Amino acid sequence: MKKLKVAVIGVGNISQFHIEAYMKNPNAELYAFCDINEKTLNAKGAQYGVERLYLDKDKMLSELPEIDLVSVCTWNSAHAECTIAALNAGKNVLCEKPMALNAEEAAAMVEAAQRNNRLLMMGFVRRFGNDATVLKDFIDAGDMGEIYYGKASYLRRAGAPSGWFGDKSRAGGGPLIDIGVHVLDLSRYLAGSPKPVSVYGATFYKLGNRKDIKLRGNYLSAGDESNEVYDVEDLATAMIRFDNGFVLSLEASFSLNIGGDVGEIQLFGTKGGAKIDPQLHLYTEQNGYLTNVEFDAPTALNFNGLFDNEINHFVDCCKDGRECRSPGTDGVEVAKILDAIYRSAKTGHEVAL
Ligand SMILES: NC(=O)c1ccc[n+]([C@@H]2O[C@H](COP(=O)([O-])OP(=O)(O)OC[C@H]3O[C@@H](n4cnc5c(N)ncnc54)[C@H](O)[C@@H]3O)[C@@H](O)[C@H]2O)c1
Repeated sequence: MKKLKVAVIGVGNISQFHIEAYMKNPNAELYAFCDINEKTLNAKGAQYGVERLYLDKDKMLSELPEIDLVSVCTWNSAHAECTIAALNAGKNVLCEKPMALNAEEAAAMVEAAQRNNRLLMMGFVRRFGNDATVLKDFIDAGDMGEIYYGKASYLRRAGAPSGWFGDKSRAGGGPLIDIGVHVLDLSRYLAGSPKPVSVYGATFYKLGNRKDIKLRGNYLSAGDESNEVYDVEDLATAMIRFDNGFVLSLEASFSLNIGGDVGEIQLFGTKGGAKIDPQLHLYTEQNGYLTNVEFDAPTALNFNGLFDNEINHFVDCCKDGRECRSPGTDGVEVAKILDAIYRSAKTGHEVAL
């Protein structure tokens, strides 16, 4: 069986999870790397024994037509450009979250995938956790009834990453687009992937990147650059209404005077409720009693294996034409919500979609 040849565009921090998952996949062959940073490119090439190294994605795509799959792991402002170039060169693409800087770019990426008849998968990695898989099975079996309300929080006390993450021109925004996107996407996915109809949002620029803090945890480590530009929000909050009646309350921060970091999703349905904190909890009713489901196997969110599951699914989709669990079209819906939150925060009014 022919192995699918893989190129990775953007070989910074997160790329190692893609690379190592492809290395473990028997149907994939790590083939080429591209990064505009020569030092990063050479270091990753040496680390993983990849010799086809390119500073320019267009050169790589034209010189190596045999590439089958591309992972796009650049900073956010290069996602659309790199994804569209790879799709136009006939490759299937897995693009890291967030999909792009805005919904317009995201829609152009989906258009390129459709025009070239190629797969565009979104790297919404939280969809591939044990917690999400188990909860989705319960929801699909009807055990939650109608899910009508959700709360999703991704709050860091002093967790602003360094480098481009604080630069709006390259990141598109702050904690909302960077980490809020994970819990927003997962909540919407579990609630049946409804379309957004209206959004009310607020953003705050009060605390900055907290470089002044003397004692901190292990934050401010992502990227390899200094925080020369820091113009993103510290906190965003929103109420999102969807076309199936589901309403989601969302909050995300890099900096917030809160007792501890929070990463939590709660979903409330007519027959039961669920929480991931990161342990999965299910609250239900049986024979007139309020009961809680206890699992005989691990169901907590566990970052080990998340990326392996995502990459294995991408390879399977490309190899066997399996239906994609995280299609680019979902990335567009999420991008529309993010745009609307930032717009609402600016105007102070609800935004209809
Ligand atoms: N799924 C997750 O949980 C998760 C976690 C962290 C980061 N991410 C996402 O992964 C992406 C990368 O984040 P990171 O932490 O690895 O950042 P990083 O800065 O460590 O790496 C990004 C790399 O992209 C390169 N690059 C930028 N533009 C390029 C271009 N046009 N062509 C080729 N290379 C280019 C940079 O030189 C850099 O080496 C971001 O979109 C981020 O949101 C996802």
